[in-house]
Amino acid sequence: MGSETQSILVTGGAGFIGTHTVLQLLNVGFKVVIIDNLDNSVEESVQRVRELAGTDRSRNLQFYLGDLRNKEDLEKVFSQTRFDAVIHFAGLKAVGESVAKPGLYYNNNLIGTLNLFEFMGKYGCKKMVFSSSATVYGQPEKIPCVEDFQLMAMNPYGRTKLFLEEIARDIQKADPDWRIVLLRYFNPVGAHISGQIGEDPKGIPNNLMPYIQQVAVGRLPELSVFGYDYPTEDGSAIRDYIHVMDLADGHIAAVQKIFTTADIGCRAYNLGTGKGTSVLEMVAAFEKASGKKIPIKLCPRRPGDATAVYASTERALKELGWKARYGVEEMCRDQWNWASKNPWGYQSQT
Ligand code: NAD
Ligand code: UFG
Repeated sequence: MGSETQSILVTGGAGFIGTHTVLQLLNVGFKVVIIDNLDNSVEESVQRVRELAGTDRSRNLQFYLGDLRNKEDLEKVFSQTRFDAVIHFAGLKAVGESVAKPGLYYNNNLIGTLNLFEFMGKYGCKKMVFSSSATVYGQPEKIPCVEDFQLMAMNPYGRTKLFLEEIARDIQKADPDWRIVLLRYFNPVGAHISGQIGEDPKGIPNNLMPYIQQVAVGRLPELSVFGYDYPTEDGSAIRDYIHVMDLADGHIAAVQKIFTTADIGCRAYNLGTGKGTSVLEMVAAFEKASGKKIPIKLCPRRPGDATAVYASTERALKELGWKARYGVEEMCRDQWNWASKNPWGYQSQT
């Protein structure tokens, strides 16, 4: 369990995965400082985390509005608190946008992370948990994806994750004091069971579940199903959906591992369930959980999409002692709870 003397810096902590992880960090007793520029989030999310954590624990949470590309912001944060570890979520993540604006993605994700490494080194905090992605497996030739597969990126967003993994490996190799865990998330969905925090994308969602959610609450008319001629049972593509609370707990396990394993080096772990679910199965599960009909339109495949991607979960179980607890039913239940309470996301009650 975390000790109240241990402080964790969480970059991007106001975002989807960040909020759920910060809540769990507070719940096990860590002190948490968030730095976020609110580029893809709102401060209301942090307020909700405070409410869920309760008065005592929320005293252990501090929020800084700041940008990792701005060294003055980093200086302010690092000079005020001595961090025991950093969980680094901050980054841009929309694949399509990264194709249209590669410079923005390289600038934000690479420069922001390089600055963060610089300040961690300068202030002697050499323990990082980094948000990587199953995107680094590209179009996997074999499934399940195993951590030592050859890596490949299909778009500028994916390349930022691939480059940052390589940079992390080089930094750790040059200075073995570093302990770095690379967490490769599969498809994070769902929400905290309270329905008070969840995913709230700006604009039209790119990802399947936020899109389905917005159809269910009437914000969008129908779901386009990208691809119905894949070599799968129902013709739609298969992914490994993982409940965001399982993901949050995976970060707690990773932080504990980093604190207790001096020779961890720079090590990658998949965070997935190991189970594949098709797009049409996901639609059916959400319809069941919500009682809403999700109108669909069968459309051509989305360029660059793989047929089937799911995780090998062995390494995370063996070395982190972590495995996912929730299935698709709970993911859809909790996502619908969040959606029905907050049909317009965090703006709903403001
Ligand atoms: P998110 O957009 O909800 O959260 C990211 C947060 O980082 C946002 O609050 C944003 O405002 C902040 N941010 C971005 N650039 C910043 C900067 N330069 N300085 C300070 N703050 C900045 O995204 P998320 O879904 O919570 O994802 C978190 C991380 O996990 C990202 O690195 C993402 O690439 C990675 N990831 C996400 C998924 C997914 O499907 N959600 C899958 C794999 C990996
Ligand atoms: N899909 C639809 N309709 C939509 C959106 C998605 O049919 O409106 C389909 C996609 O074609 C795909 C599946 O639903 O077959 C899942 O798509 P997502 O966009 O939700 O997720 P991806 O697996 O394509 O990619 C996501 C993130 C990536 C990340 C990857 C692995 O977008 O950044 O998960 O973590 F790398």
